[in-house]
Amino acid sequence: MNDLATLVATARSEFESCHDPAALENVKARYLGKTGALTELLKGLGKLSAAERPVAGAAINDAKRSLEAALEARRDALAGSRLEAQLAAQALDVSLPGRSRGAGSLHPLTRVQQRIETLFHSLGFAVADGPEIEDDFHNFTALNTPENHPARSMQDTFYVENAMVLRTHTSPIQVRYMETHAPPIKIIAPGRVYRVDSDATHSPMFHQVEGLWIDRDVTFADLKFVVTEFLRRFFERDDLKVRFRPSFFPFTEPSAEIDMAFADGRWLEIMGSGQVHPNVLRAVNIDPQEYQGFAFGMGLDRIAMLRYGIDDLRVFYENDLRFLAQFQ
Ligand code: DAH
Repeated sequence: MNDLATLVATARSEFESCHDPAALENVKARYLGKTGALTELLKGLGKLSAAERPVAGAAINDAKRSLEAALEARRDALAGSRLEAQLAAQALDVSLPGRSRGAGSLHPLTRVQQRIETLFHSLGFAVADGPEIEDDFHNFTALNTPENHPARSMQDTFYVENAMVLRTHTSPIQVRYMETHAPPIKIIAPGRVYRVDSDATHSPMFHQVEGLWIDRDVTFADLKFVVTEFLRRFFERDDLKVRFRPSFFPFTEPSAEIDMAFADGRWLEIMGSGQVHPNVLRAVNIDPQEYQGFAFGMGLDRIAMLRYGIDDLRVFYENDLRFLAQFQ
């Protein structure tokens, strides 16, 4: 029966060396198929004597069972490794970064407005607000600009029904604040304003920041200090130069246009200002003999352009993400 043991060992090792199911089935056929080696041995039992037959038969059947078990084990192993290969090929790479939503950011004009509010806060100013659709009285008349006053034509705007206008400046917020608050008053008022104007440096809608400080003894010297201090802090330049040029506004007397210059010495007009006209105080029942102070109005878009080195105002309003994403 040594031949039988050798045959079993050879068959097993052939099973083991098969690496795909089809090859394995071919090897199986050579041993266990209809004309396979073991099948032939079983067929040969008839030639043995009656005494030898049961022993030989049992040995061959044992060998057959052990080969069948080995075959089954190899089939399982091949199926298992095939599954593993399939899984590996289809695997999800969970380390791939997901698709994220881009982080949003504040509009550059909002950032500049917040910066202005913070700086004036530190100088003791509160922030006030008012309506964008304004009546004639607050936008013009109470600001010492009666009907037919020539200064009205400098601020052509959009007229809404019932003699309402889209406010042409933030100055009406001064009036509204003084109507509802007694001095001392120390506010700034940022907001949208409207004019009939449109080119690279003018938009029909733009932004201003109004300033107002009223108390018993607020003078032009205070105006100079506050504005110079603010501009130097805003542009982070201690050597920034500020110049006051005589000008005219109906609601201030005396009035000044304020210019600033960086080190290059080029002067840029940055805001209007002056001591609040007594007629404006009278219009809101504040006694000009007792109280005085200054006001100013600056272009927020203008100083945002200077801060960021932008030469066309319109980019602020086009909502082009390539521009806006630079302010994250
Ligand atoms: N309201 C003026 C304008 O829009 C700017 C201005 C000038 C505001 C002088 C003031 C001021 O408060 O005192 O042109």
